[in-house]
Amino acid sequence: MENILVTGGAGFIGGNFVQYMVEKYPQYHIYNLDLLTYAGDLTKHQQIENKENYSFVHIDIADRQAVGELFERVDFTYVVHFAAESHVDRSITDPEVFIRTNVLGTQVLLDAAKSAEVRKFVHVSTDEVYGELSFDPTTFFTEETPIQPNSPYSASKASSDLLVRAYHETYGLPVNITRCSNNYGPYHFPEKLIPLTISRVLNDQKVPVYGDGKNVRDWLHVLDHCSAIDLVMHSGTVGEVYNIGGHNEMTNLEVVRTIIRALGKTDELIEFVEDRLGHDKRYAIDPTKIEELGWRPVYDFETGIAQTVDWFLENKEWWEKIISGEYQQYFDRQYARK
Ligand code: NAD
Ligand code: TYD
Repeated sequence: MENILVTGGAGFIGGNFVQYMVEKYPQYHIYNLDLLTYAGDLTKHQQIENKENYSFVHIDIADRQAVGELFERVDFTYVVHFAAESHVDRSITDPEVFIRTNVLGTQVLLDAAKSAEVRKFVHVSTDEVYGELSFDPTTFFTEETPIQPNSPYSASKASSDLLVRAYHETYGLPVNITRCSNNYGPYHFPEKLIPLTISRVLNDQKVPVYGDGKNVRDWLHVLDHCSAIDLVMHSGTVGEVYNIGGHNEMTNLEVVRTIIRALGKTDELIEFVEDRLGHDKRYAIDPTKIEELGWRPVYDFETGIAQTVDWFLENKEWWEKIISGEYQQYFDRQYARK
């Protein structure tokens, strides 16, 4: 059996990826390494936590000793690295932890992967490293677009991307970097726009829209992101960057209105608030390179957002536990006391 290390597997995308891999590849043992910060939630893995090909390890990626001991204990074939501080607004108020986790943590993992001579290190990054596009709808980010991050979050991700590139160029570490657009779907943490809107509309609370609501994001269903990473991990050309996006550009106002309509409420719930500092205007991906590798997204935005709204309606208990903070006691109850 081959061992796959997935970092950040208690978070939104890493969590979906862990479940996808555990179900799809019984021949792989999936190790979910996560520090369980505020964004880490293990309750979502109750369906897989007793499976033979799944293990959870409670480690900080910036803890060199703990990461080193794990790599001595387990022989990993692949590392798929999601763990990060991921919320732009938090990076504006408290950038330091973004540098520690996203930059130093990535370097610790790269050292461990290099010593262990893994088959591949897949670094999950973001289109935000490219900075912003104008509103001209004919312009897109390609893999050749210069790196020009604008927020402390995207600057920390860009820094980690450059380290990954350097470990490939200097030491020959087999790597891929993926740069994905905004994700949405099940288990999306309710501080981000889409789940925040759904949870607030369901509670008849105002939805804060930053600035004039005209900023554009390119939305991708999280399961389409998972299939893209699976493909890059197995078939991506070593050393290459792959942009991942599905041509689903929407203004924030369009997204919020779609959700409000789907839930049978009115635009009176929209509240325009002060704009985010350094708010990037527009992101949009040219996915030609990953499509040439054989990837196709399954979800268009209309279907994906309708299913996501249904998922949040059916899983109210999950996001209410997140909002109340109750999810943070699950690890102590299920793991720490054993
Ligand atoms: P998330 O915030 O939901 O989850 C991050 C996970 O990392 C959490 O489980 C957290 O506990 C864990 N973590 C944080 N610091 C850690 C540390 N020091 N050691 C170990 N674990 C730690 O994030 P997400 O939205 O799932 O994003 C995952 C990755 O995908 C990130 O690298 C992010 O930059 C990238 N990405 C996200 C999006 C998006 O739309 N959410 C889009 C493109 C790329
Ligand atoms: P977010 O979900 O934080 O993702 P990112 O900043 O990585 O793109 O935000 C998506 C867009 O929604 C972004 O343009 C900021 C905007 N936004 C709001 O208008 N109101 C909100 O409450 C939040 C969280 C975001």
